[in-house]
Amino acid sequence: MRLAGRRILVTGAARGLGLAMARRFVAEGARVLMADVLPEGADRAAELGDSAAFITCDVSSREQIAAAIDTIIARWGGIDCLVNNAGIAPRGDILTETPEQFGQVLAINLTAAFHAIQLAAPHMIAAGKGVVINMSSVNAVLTIPGLLAYNVAKGGLDQLTRNAAVALAPHGVRVVGIAPGTILTELARTAVLADDAARAMILSRTPLGRAGEPEEIAAIAAFLASDDASYITGETIVADGGRMALNYTMPPT
Ligand SMILES: NC(=O)c1ccc[n+]([C@@H]2O[C@H](COP(=O)([O-])OP(=O)(O)OC[C@H]3O[C@@H](n4cnc5c(N)ncnc54)[C@H](O)[C@@H]3O)[C@@H](O)[C@H]2O)c1
Repeated sequence: MRLAGRRILVTGAARGLGLAMARRFVAEGARVLMADVLPEGADRAAELGDSAAFITCDVSSREQIAAAIDTIIARWGGIDCLVNNAGIAPRGDILTETPEQFGQVLAINLTAAFHAIQLAAPHMIAAGKGVVINMSSVNAVLTIPGLLAYNVAKGGLDQLTRNAAVALAPHGVRVVGIAPGTILTELARTAVLADDAARAMILSRTPLGRAGEPEEIAAIAAFLASDDASYITGETIVADGGRMALNYTMPPT
């Protein structure tokens, strides 16, 4: 019960990594406000009992992020941890991407984290402690031409992590990131695991020979949110089955 009593806001928590993190946080004793645009998030929160609640929240709106932070403060009296997890990964390269889509991806995957940290930080500073976890990706560093805006947003998010970590360190607030490789969620199935050829290509770049499970990312988030990670800030932890270490492709399996 490393997270006993902690009050945690997770964006994009209706499914995928956000839902896995919410479940793990509750299992470790936390109370979790799950924010998402998908209404089924309410059912997922109800399954977790009194330790979880759901709020409809589109993170491309600063006002709706502010409402989510107001809600966790009003409900449980503070915010100990913020997880900026909501994300989308529509396809588009430098020749085809529309300005509208580029702007939307940055709004959801990057600017939302700026708004949320700016709005949550004063409460954490007042408490003299807090943790922010930004959900990055190996695509912050490695690139996929057809995921232009996503790559750009995640690259920016890593700098936001480093910058905010240094700015908030004097206040006892840690800012960290997690950079998954390919994890079995709806986003990955659509963006990079659409067919057998795509799956073979991904596995050829994955020394452990399999995609990750959402629970494997949730375990890292629970560690980072806890005092076990009390000396880690400004760092993004890579969990990618060895992809970043690989300098050749694996034979097809
Ligand atoms: N799955 C992977 O392989 C992988 C790898 C690296 C990084 N990530 C990152 O992990 C995070 C979670 O992705 P996932 O794989 O669980 O995807 P997912 O599509 O399963 O879940 C994303 C969640 O974000 C929500 N969301 C989307 N737009 C939103 C908005 N405007 N406001 C609020 N919520 C919104 C969705 O409704 C959904 O519940 C994303 O930031 C993604 O970039 C995923």
